[in-house]
Amino acid sequence: MDDKVIIFDTTLRDGEQVPGCQLNTIEKIQVAQALEALGVDVIEAGFPISSPGDFNSVVEISKAISNPIICALTRAVKKDIEVAAEALQYAKRKRIHTGIGTSPMHIQFKIKTTPEEIIKRAADAVKYAKKFVDDVEFYAEDAGRSENEYLARVIEAVIKAGATVVNIPDTTGYCLPEEYGSKIKYLLNNVPNIDKAIISTHCHNDLGMATANTMMGIINGARQVEVTINGIGERAGNTSLEEIVMIIKSHHDLKVRTDINTKLIYSTSRLVSTLMNMPVQANKAIVGRNAFAHSSGIHQDGVLKKRENYEIIDPVEVGIKESSIILTARSGRAALNHRLELLGFKMGKEELDEIYHRFLQMADKKKDIKDEDIRILAGVVFQGEKSMKLDMLQVTCGKSLMPVATVGLKINGELHYATATGNGPIDASFTAVRQLISKTVHLEEFLIQAITKGSDDLGKVHIQVEYDGKLFYGFSANTDIITASVEAFIDALAKIQ
Ligand code: KIV
Ligand code: ZN
Repeated sequence: MDDKVIIFDTTLRDGEQVPGCQLNTIEKIQVAQALEALGVDVIEAGFPISSPGDFNSVVEISKAISNPIICALTRAVKKDIEVAAEALQYAKRKRIHTGIGTSPMHIQFKIKTTPEEIIKRAADAVKYAKKFVDDVEFYAEDAGRSENEYLARVIEAVIKAGATVVNIPDTTGYCLPEEYGSKIKYLLNNVPNIDKAIISTHCHNDLGMATANTMMGIINGARQVEVTINGIGERAGNTSLEEIVMIIKSHHDLKVRTDINTKLIYSTSRLVSTLMNMPVQANKAIVGRNAFAHSSGIHQDGVLKKRENYEIIDPVEVGIKESSIILTARSGRAALNHRLELLGFKMGKEELDEIYHRFLQMADKKKDIKDEDIRILAGVVFQGEKSMKLDMLQVTCGKSLMPVATVGLKINGELHYATATGNGPIDASFTAVRQLISKTVHLEEFLIQAITKGSDDLGKVHIQVEYDGKLFYGFSANTDIITASVEAFIDALAKIQ
C-alpha cells in the first residue's frame, strides 16, 4: 500500500494574507466546505490573534466542518495560543500550529535573541499548546535558511515537548530542490525522536521552485505538505495543491498517494479565484485556461489521433470536460476539420482544402478564430446581427426588497419581454432570460472580475453554459456588472443557436 501524504491546505491563512484576497466569514466557510468536499486532511483556517475577523472565521469554520482537522496559527506566545484554543473550541478535530524563527537572520535581526533561547521558547510554546489540544504542529520559520545541525536540535526539543507534526518552511522560497530535500533527509536521519512526529513541507515560490521543493521533501520522507489552491500566498505564493496532487497521481513510481477527489480540483480553483478576486494565469499548470488547450498544428493533429500523444493528464480527471483545440494560423487541416465536424459540417477532401486555404488567410489577420468565422468560411450566410441581443434590462433590488428583473430580448429581430424574481438581481435577470428561450441550459461557470480596483471599474464577466452535452462560452464587460452578466449569458446562449 502506498504511503499517504497528508494535504494541509493553507488557502484560508497563508493564501488569504495576500493583499486584495481577503474574504468575509461566509466566503471563508464556502471555501472551507469546498476544501472538505475536495478531501483535504487539514484546513488552516486562520491566525485568530491577528484580528477579530480571523478569530470569528476560525470559530465559524470549526462549526461548519466535520472531517478535516481545523488548524489555527499562533506565534510562540502564550496569549496567541490561548486565543487560538478558544477559537477552535467547536472544532471536531483541532490542531494548534505554533512556531518561531530558527535561521541566523531571524534569530539575530528579527527576534534579537540567542539560539539557545529560541529552543527554550519553541519547546515552551509546544508544551503550553499541549495543555489545550493533543495535536500540536511546530513551524521553524525560515527553516530553509537555518543550519541543519541547529534545526535538528530545535526539532528534537519540540518533539520532546509533544509536537505531533514538525513543519520545515522555506519561508523565503530560497532553497534549491536538492538542498531542501537534503534538509528533510538530514532531519529524518539526525533527530533521534523523529519517528514520533510527521515532517511537513511548507514552500514559497519566490524563485518558482515551491512545487519542486515540496516534491523533494516528499521524496526524502516528508508526509505532510502545506499547499494552497492555485498556489496563492504571500509574495509569489505557496506550493499549489493541484500541482502536488496531480504529480503524485501521475507518478505511481513515487509510491505515495493522497485522498483528494481530483475531479473537484477545477471547480475549487474557480471558486477560490472568483471569491478572492485572483485570476488564474492562463498557462498555470493543471487549472490554467490553456492547461489543456492545443494550438500548434502538429500537437493538434497528435491530440486528435490520440489524446495521450500530447497530454499526460486526462482533463476529466481534474474536472475539466475536455481538451480544447484552439484555431490559429498554426493549426492544420485536422484541427479545422475537427471543428467543422463539431459544428455539423461534413467536408470532402477538396472542400476542406479550399476552406483551409481561406482559413489560413483569415488566421493571418485575426488572432482569435471563432465558430462564427468558421461558419462563414464553410459558406453559411453570415447574418450580420447576432440572433439574440439584449435590448433592455430593468432591475429593482436592495436591502429588504425582493429582486425583480424585466428583460427585453431581441430574438431574430423580434422583441420579447419577461419579468422574474430571484434570490438576487443576477438570478432574477437570468430567470427572465430563461423564460424567453426554449432551451434548458445549465450554468457551468460564472466568473466576475474587476479590471482594476476602483468602484467605477469595468466588470468583466465570463460564463460557460452547458446545452446538450456541449459547452458554450459567453463574455461581456460593462461598468454595470448586472448588465455585463446578462450580456455574457446571452452571448453564450446566442452561440447555441
Ligand atoms: O512561510 C512560513 O514560514 C509560514 C509559517 C507561519 C508557517 O507561513
Ligand atoms: Zn508561509
